Formats: sequence, C-alpha cells, structure tokens
Amino acid sequence: MMLNSAPASFCTRANALLRKNLTFQKRNKKTNIRLILFPLFLCILLVVLQHLVDNQLDKPEFKCGCICTNDSETCGDSEKVCGVQYSDQNQVLACAVPNPPEWPPLLQLPTGEFWYYTMLFTADNVSFGQMVTDNMFPSELTMNYTDIMASLATNVLGSGVTPDSNNFIEPAFTSDRPIFYLQTHCPQDNFSFPDIYQIGGMQQYANSFSYKIAGFTVEKDIICARGVNLWWYSASEINHQLYLQEINTIVSAFDFLNSNENGFNVTVWYKSNYKGVNDFGPTELLRFPRSVNLISNAYLQFLLGPGTKMLFEFVKEMPKSETPIRIEIASLLGGLFYTWVILQLFPVVLTSLVYEKQHKLRIMMKMHGLGDGPYWTITYGYFLVLSVIYMLCFVIFGSVLGLKFFTLNDYSIQFVFYFIYINLQVSLAFLLASFFSNVKTATVTAYIGVFGTGLLSGFLFQFFIEDSSFPRGWIIFMELYPGFALYRVLYEFAQSATSGSNSGTNGMRWQDLSDNTNGMKEVLIIMFAEWIVVLFVAYYIDQVFSTGSGKTPLFFLKGFQKKPLSSFKKLSIQRQGSNVLAQMEKPDVIQEKEKVEQLLLEPTIDHAIVCDDLKKFYPGRDGNPGKFAVKELFLAVPRGECFGMLGPNGAGKTSFISMMIGLTKPTSGAAYVQGLDIRTHMDGIYSNMGVCPQHNLLWENLTGREHLLFYGRLKNLKGSVLTQAIEKSLKSLNLFHGGIADKQAGKYSGGMKRRLSVAISLIGDPKVVYMDEPSTGLDPASRKCLWNVIKLAKQDRAIILTTHSMEEAEALCDRLGIFVNGSLQCIGNPKELKGRYGGTYVFTMTTSLDHEKDVEEMVQQLTPNANKIYQLSGTQKFELPKEEVKIANVFQAVEVAKRNFTVFAWGLADTRLEDVFIKVAREAQAFDTLS
Ligand SMILES: *[C@@H]1O[C@H](CO)[C@@H](O)[C@H](O)[C@H]1NC(C)=O
Ligand SMILES: *[C@@H]1O[C@H](CO)[C@@H](O)[C@H](O)[C@H]1NC(C)=O
Ligand SMILES: *[C@@H]1O[C@H](CO)[C@@H](O)[C@H](O)[C@H]1NC(C)=O
Repeated sequence: MMLNSAPASFCTRANALLRKNLTFQKRNKKTNIRLILFPLFLCILLVVLQHLVDNQLDKPEFKCGCICTNDSETCGDSEKVCGVQYSDQNQVLACAVPNPPEWPPLLQLPTGEFWYYTMLFTADNVSFGQMVTDNMFPSELTMNYTDIMASLATNVLGSGVTPDSNNFIEPAFTSDRPIFYLQTHCPQDNFSFPDIYQIGGMQQYANSFSYKIAGFTVEKDIICARGVNLWWYSASEINHQLYLQEINTIVSAFDFLNSNENGFNVTVWYKSNYKGVNDFGPTELLRFPRSVNLISNAYLQFLLGPGTKMLFEFVKEMPKSETPIRIEIASLLGGLFYTWVILQLFPVVLTSLVYEKQHKLRIMMKMHGLGDGPYWTITYGYFLVLSVIYMLCFVIFGSVLGLKFFTLNDYSIQFVFYFIYINLQVSLAFLLASFFSNVKTATVTAYIGVFGTGLLSGFLFQFFIEDSSFPRGWIIFMELYPGFALYRVLYEFAQSATSGSNSGTNGMRWQDLSDNTNGMKEVLIIMFAEWIVVLFVAYYIDQVFSTGSGKTPLFFLKGFQKKPLSSFKKLSIQRQGSNVLAQMEKPDVIQEKEKVEQLLLEPTIDHAIVCDDLKKFYPGRDGNPGKFAVKELFLAVPRGECFGMLGPNGAGKTSFISMMIGLTKPTSGAAYVQGLDIRTHMDGIYSNMGVCPQHNLLWENLTGREHLLFYGRLKNLKGSVLTQAIEKSLKSLNLFHGGIADKQAGKYSGGMKRRLSVAISLIGDPKVVYMDEPSTGLDPASRKCLWNVIKLAKQDRAIILTTHSMEEAEALCDRLGIFVNGSLQCIGNPKELKGRYGGTYVFTMTTSLDHEKDVEEMVQQLTPNANKIYQLSGTQKFELPKEEVKIANVFQAVEVAKRNFTVFAWGLADTRLEDVFIKVAREAQAFDTLS
C-alpha cells in the first residue's frame, strides 16, 4: 500500500483538530448540557422571581383599589375610599390621585418629645431682632371646630415624626404620636383640656379633636409646648452651638443679618433628619417651608401690627395619574446574574486548555505534526463558536421568556458587545492557561475569580458607577479589568431596560452610545483594545514558554541576533581532552563517529537519523555542579533499523529523546532527521515523526479509534486509506476485538493504553519513530504481539527504542547502544556485543554438598582459568572462557562426573545480554569515578 507522506496541509490539520474537538465535545455531553442549561436555569429563575414579585404587587395593598371605611368587608360604593388611604402609602404610588388631600403645614421638630422647643437667634440690631421674634409664637390656641383642619394652620404646629417622600399623606397625622403646638406660654388650668401628658416631668394639657382622613374619622391629640427664643451674639456662635449638639430641643436658628424696617434679610438654619448615605433626597425638606413662613409672618407683624397675617393654609401634593408599580427583577438583579452567566464560560475554556497542557497532549499533538497555526486557529475558533452558541442560547432564552433586559435593548448592540467580550474572554483564557499546569488549580482559581468578580462588581463597582462624584478616570481604570467592563455593559443594559420599560419606550439604541453618561463607548474601546493586546501577549507567551517551541523571548527579532559563541563550547573542549582516553578504548563508538562524519560530508537519504556531536548540558543550580546529560553523541541510524538504547536510569536516554523530539534544545551539536536539522526545522520533522512517550498521553474520553483518526488525519491520511490504516493498526495491536477500539481511553487498562500509544506512534507511516519503553506494563502475550508489530514496522523506517528489557532489545533491535553517563559506551548488534564483552560460558551444576569439591576439580580440568561466580548449598556457577573450552569437552566431562557422583542438575549457558549490560555499565561508572 502506497501511503502519502507529504506533510498535511494547514486545512487538513485544522480539520483533524476540529473533528477531534467535536468528538471530544460530543463525549462531554453532560458538561455541555449543564453549561447550556445554566443560563436557561437562571432565566427561568428570574422569570419565577418576577412572577412572585408581580404576584405580590398584585395584592390589594400594593394595587390601586378601594377599601371600606367602616372596618367591614362589605359596604356601599359611597363608603369606599380609593387611592389615598389611611396610613397607607403603597396605594398612593399606584393609584391616580386627582384630588390630593390638604394638610396643615408643620414644623419639623426634633424626634424626642419635650415640653418646650428652642429657636436660636442673632441679629446685627438686637432690639430690632427681639421685636420681630416676639411675634413668632401666638399666646393661645385658636380653633374653629367647624373646620378643624383649616383652623389648625393659624397655630404653630410641629411634629417630630419623620416625613414621607411625598405629601399625599402626612405621617404626623396618621401616626400615634401627638402633634405639638408651640406657644409663648402654655395654659395652666385643666378645665378645658381633657388629656394630660407627662412630658419631661411637666404636665402638659392636650387638646383633642377628631377629623376625617381618607374616609376614616381619626381622634388626634395636640399638645402644647413652649416656644423659647434663645439669643446669641453672632452667627458663628450659633453655628458652634449647633455643631456641639448640646441642646436637643432646637427647631431652627435664624440670623437677621442687616435687616431693618426697610428690608428683611435672614439666614435660616434648618435641621433635617439626615440618616445616612442611602437616605438623601428631598424627603426631609418637606416641612421646611413653615419655618420660613413663621419668620416672615413675625416680620410682617412687626411692620404692620398683630392683625396682619400671611396665612400658610395647607400643603398639598400635585395630582397624579395612575402608575402601577412594576419591579423589573431581571434588570434589578440582572447585572450580577448575567455577569455570572457570561463569566461562567471562562473556567470552561481555561480548564480545557490546561487539561491539554497538564496531560502534555498539546506537545503530543505537536510531535505528530500539528503546528501552532492550525492549533491556535482551530482552538480559538472552536471556543469562540462554543461561546457564541452559549451566548445565543442565553439571549434567546431570555427573549423567549420575555425578559425586558433582552427585548428592549437593540439586539445589534447586544451582539456587538457580547461578541467582543467573549473574544476577550477566550483570549484571556489562552493567556492564563500559560500560567497553570494543573487542571484542579485552574478550575478552583477560575471559579473563585468568577464569583469574586461578580460580587465585587455588584456590591462595590456599582456604587462607583452610581456615585456621580467618583472620578470617571478611576472608573475607566477599573474597567480595564475585563470583569468590571462586562459588569458595566450589563449594568447599562439593565438601566436602559428599566427606564425603557418604565417610560414605555425602547432600551439602548446605537445613538445612546454617544451619550457620555453611560460610558458604553469607553467600555467598547477598552474591551476591543484589550482583546487585541491579550491575544497577542497570549500567543507570544505560548511561543516562548511552551515546551517544544524552543523559542527565545526575542524570537521575533531572530534576524538581528548574532550567533552566540556559547561558553558551553569551551567547556566541552576542555572535557574532550579527558575523554580521549575513554574514546580510545571504544573502537565501535569511534567507528560510529567516523561514519557520521562521512555521512555529513556525503549526505544520503538512507540514514533517517544522524546525530553529530550532540550535547546537552544542565547548568548547576543551588550550588550543585552542572551536568552533561548527553555528551559527544555520534549516531547514525539508517532506515529499516531498530536501534535500541540501553542504559541504567539517569544515563541520559530521556534527555537524548527529548532533544530529538524537540522538547529541549541541544546545548551544542546537531542532529538531522530525514536531512532536517532538529534545531531549526522541527516543524518539518514533526510531520514525519512518531512518538510513543514513556507515559501514555491520551484523552480520557476519546476512544482508541478516535485517537487514531485524529493522529492519522494529522499525518495526512484521508478517506479509505485512513480507515484501512486504522483497522490494520488496531488489529495488529490486538485492540480490535471486543469493542476495545470504541471504548474510551480512560477505561483502558495500562496495557491497552500502552498498545494504543504504540499504534499512535506508528500511524501515518512516519519515517522516524521514537519509542520510550513501549512494553512496560504489558502481559507476555501483548508484548509478543507488540514485538511483531514493531518488527513489521521497522522495515521501512528508523526506530529508536529505549528499554530495560534485554529480552526485548535482543528480539527487536538490529543494533544496540549502551548509554552510560551521557555517552555511548558501545554500539553493535546484540551478537557482536555479547561476543566482545561476554566471551564466556556460564556453567552451572547442582550436586549434594559432599561433592562440591569434585565439581570444582572437574571444572579445573576443563580450564584452569575458570572463575567461580556463585556457590550455595550444592549449586555452583563458573565462568568458562570461550576460547579455552569446547562444548563437546564439557558434555564429556559431565558424563564422566555423572558416573562418579549424583548430579541433580547441570547447565551450560552462553553469556546473556544482561551480563554484557551490567559489565559495561559497571566499567563505565568505575572509569567515570576515576577520571
Ligand atoms: C435698631 O432697630 C430699631 C428698631 O427698628 C431702630 O429704632 C434703631 O434705630 C436700630 N438701631 C440701629 C443702630 O440701626
Ligand atoms: C369657623 O369656620 C366656619 C367655616 O369656615 C366659618 O363659617 C365660621 O365663621 C368660623 N367661626 C369663627 C368663630 O371664626
Ligand atoms: C443680606 O445680608 C448679606 C450678609 O450681610 C449681604 O451680603 C447681602 O447683600 C444682604 N442682602 C440684602 C438684599 O440686603
């Protein structure tokens, strides 16, 4: 079968990744459904809440309605009052009030109850001032019981009850607390006053009267209190006195300034019931006019005599039409809810990116030819589309459920803002993914971020937006944080929706963006600029820090850089001298070096892998000396060869493979794969390379077949060729039967995963394959089948294989290299090595203990150079030099021995590779400690 080995095009690779992602997404059904259902859930929650609130508002107390005035359930229409009702403001808000009630004007008194109240005065001309203030308070109560309410206005009434935000109902008249009337002196007899109050230890007589309010007849007490005038020398003293708050009976203070008969010029200090930041507004000023009227009247009487009066008869709200109460929950809570909904996507994208990083799948994909271009394009596009679908669902759900937040604002504005924001969010996830290496950490951090951002926005940032005195510059600065920018957008949408719904017009329109108060234009610019910047930075950081790219932080300035003369070179030259001796003793290694030099002079394409003096130096850290993980490595592996790398742990095999697959850069030296330099053309090499890493790098929820499909597509396999290749691969690795191929890799046993990794490394006919301990964890049967696959595979490609199993090395490898302390100690085919380093037979014989001596003698006769290596309860092992011993002689000797004494067992074995390995490793290590 002819396979296409041209590197896959951008589209092919992008297609492969896209289809893998889609499969992955399909597998993730539960997560996806949860993800899509979340906004639906929130929208439904909002609708339910809205429904509850509407229901509540639909109750009689909030709805405009009529109630009976005579405390009974049924009454005639004439006995009903509608709108303004006794002590009930709720209906006032909703109802039409064509004829608002009139209320006698009141002074705002301090909240406590006192038997006298104080006015503070000062004047330039004190005698003038005193003449005016003498007219302030009447000396007796004037009541006309045929029209109580009107006659009350002629007296100086006051109340400490907090006024409401409107004057449809005056709470002073509906509350239980008495109303005070201020006089110069209070009456001392109790004949005409039925009620007595104890106020501040004084008996105060009260007048009681009844009046009608909203259909109800109410009994109300008015209590006398003295109005006391206190004089001060200057305005600043009054100011100080008010500041000290020592006198708690002060009603108002007046400064007559330069007033005289010809002109009245007065300053009024007024005490509002200021309660805190949230409670400002016109409320407390409702009872202010009476104090001005009082002082004006006093002046008027000073000028024209006591008969004159400018009567402040009543206060009355303006009539109003019906305004049903509607609380738009979606717009009220919207900002916070929607921020969470949209931010929710962030952890999803981040986790998915970090997952591929943590499981090294990104690098695995790269090693199989998936370049950065297609990876970025597809991954970015993929998450963008995912986000767009999510947002569409969100907006559609919200619109279908009739949330004003969505329906009133222009959809094109919503689309533009959401689109830019999700782009920013995806870029941000890419950026942050570089800083996480663990999915769990990333998830936790991201969710904390999401909820924290929501709360901070809702409970802190919003106040800054609403506080018009907060500097706009700071708000814009805060909006540089994308979460706040998003919140601002949603907040403005909510505001527009609310005002639109209240006034029955539309929400936000494009022309509203030019309105400077909503700040949408700035947010749009910020988000757009951030998106571009973050995307660029994310790509840059990915290029610099991701393993395998091998780019320096200034990679884009490559053209300007000079080649650095590395200090490692000097170091290696020095080291070379000391190693010459070692090299002298290794003719096979020297021969390999000569072969490499020859190959570099006359390049041929037969040799798939050529390593020329490859070195890897790890600089010392924390006072430890630096270490050469790989030094002076010369190696040429022709096509069709399986080269086995043996070596003790830490010998540098993995460092070597890491360099070859582009995970790290060589410190010096070069290596060529298919004629391409690993230092510069790794991207080209990847499309012809297969890797079976030491640890299985698989997606837990993709099946074996899907893995092969993905990597096959990356290697430019298409259509029937692809399916055939996969069938073949699955069958040969024993993954085909029993539906294993279609099970998710997460459910595979260790052995199955291993076999799948091997299958992945071989898919798409790569010319060079690296296998790092491919058979670890396999049962003997699987191992046999794996060996067959590798044997078949090595026919037209070069394979570099590391293993700890000598049996495997012997079975698979055409040549072996024993790698100790970073360099090759010997190279050759297994037989040669055994011949060179073994050169002995191992003779074993077991007898009873009495005959151990006899065995020893017999061996001595065979060869005097025999070497006893083992002796235990009758079993002895000897090494016999091959040149001095003939196998026939050994058999003969054993026959003779059997006649003389009982031989339980005996054996003669050729040197095993294991013995060679141990010997070479031991010698090399001994040499290394010497030098
Ligand atoms: C103070 O006011 C009184 C009464 O108006 C007036 O008779 C008197 O001349 C004023 N004194 C001064 C210094 O203006
Ligand atoms: C009391 O008020 C009524 C109605 O306004 C008026 O007719 C009557 O003359 C008043 N009585 C006095 C004593 O002012
Ligand atoms: C009222 O008094 C203030 C302060 O003494 C003065 O500046 C202002 O001109 C006066 N106004 C009139 C109309 O006299």
